[in-house]
Amino acid sequence: MANKPLVVTVTGAAGQIGYSLLFRIANGDVFGPKQPIILKLLEITPAMKALEGTLMELEDCAFPLLYDMIPTDDPKVAFDGANWAFLVGAFPRKAGMERADLIDRNGPIFVEQGKAINQVAADDFRALIVGNPANTNALICAMNAPDVPRDRFAAMTRLDHNRAIAQLVKKAREKDPDVTVADVKRVIIWGNHSSTMVPDIYHARIGRKKAINAVGKRWYKKHFIPTVATRGGAIIKARGASSAASAANAAINAVRDWALGTPKGDWVSLAVYSDGSHYGIPEGVMYSVPVTHPGDGTWQIVEGLEINDEIKEKMRITGEELLRERAVVEHLLKG
Ligand code: NAD
Ligand code: LMR
Repeated sequence: MANKPLVVTVTGAAGQIGYSLLFRIANGDVFGPKQPIILKLLEITPAMKALEGTLMELEDCAFPLLYDMIPTDDPKVAFDGANWAFLVGAFPRKAGMERADLIDRNGPIFVEQGKAINQVAADDFRALIVGNPANTNALICAMNAPDVPRDRFAAMTRLDHNRAIAQLVKKAREKDPDVTVADVKRVIIWGNHSSTMVPDIYHARIGRKKAINAVGKRWYKKHFIPTVATRGGAIIKARGASSAASAANAAINAVRDWALGTPKGDWVSLAVYSDGSHYGIPEGVMYSVPVTHPGDGTWQIVEGLEINDEIKEKMRITGEELLRERAVVEHLLKG
């Protein structure tokens, strides 16, 4: 074997997102075609039987990069020596709920997992938190792993970022049928993965055009912002279950870029720990910002963007929501 296998932990491995995610990780879609993987798969005890079935299917794919699989219901086993983790295991919301309504049920999961990560994960450990409410769960997890640098934890807003790109392409094609996803660059999702998120296209380009000119301010405000911000709820209403394949795809996109680097001339959205020194974002919350990844497992916030008053006000509102969520889980943050 040319490369040492990476230990990749996936929680909620028998769930909907897990079923889309595992096969793509094992196929090399995240860490590249030369990187062998050991999958450590965490589930709750009642779901271990279903997980066994998923493992049988993974085995039957005979993935060349899948070196080993370890199913477990013990977080300490799941995170032992882990280099990367996808923290998916959490309950999804049902129609009519906000993601924040899940906090009482899901928050404690991230206390237990944060503690286990602190004790047994590898020194280069990094985690993408997907389970909702993702930003606040990521904060809980990071605060319960005080020996792991906070910049190793991030919450996923890549699905919102991808949704924004897709909506822009659809609209731009009304005038120019040749527009493709690859033409859209520099979209931003600010703030919380909730309906207060701020999809910002004032810096975005569609080909050579400014996105805001290509699609028009009226459409941006009246259609685009609410569509992107409430897309998760619209999917639950239509499918009777929350997004799964698109969420797994976004997680793959996010971790691939984090590990291997963002494309030149573009950035991605990721919710990271705020130290209070960027764009007036409050300190001590996991807030989605535009980042670039050099390809060494780090991220850098895109600096120096001019933010107009309309976006500033929306950024303040989503930041206040995150502070309110933080206050609700204060007792889970002690570490
Ligand atoms: P699901 O119910 O199909 O699967 C969740 C799995 O997690 C289940 O198999 C469950 O047994 C497991 N689980 C529960 N508690 C656990 C624990 N303590 N340890 C390990 N596993 C545990 O749900 P899903 O559709 O896969 O969604 C998972 C989470 O991801 C939900 O909270 C959902 O809201 C969230 N989500 C986030 C985004 C995002 O963009 N951030 C997108 C889609 C879904
Ligand atoms: C999504 O955005 O699709 C997920 O966060 C699931 C949800 O509850 O909306």
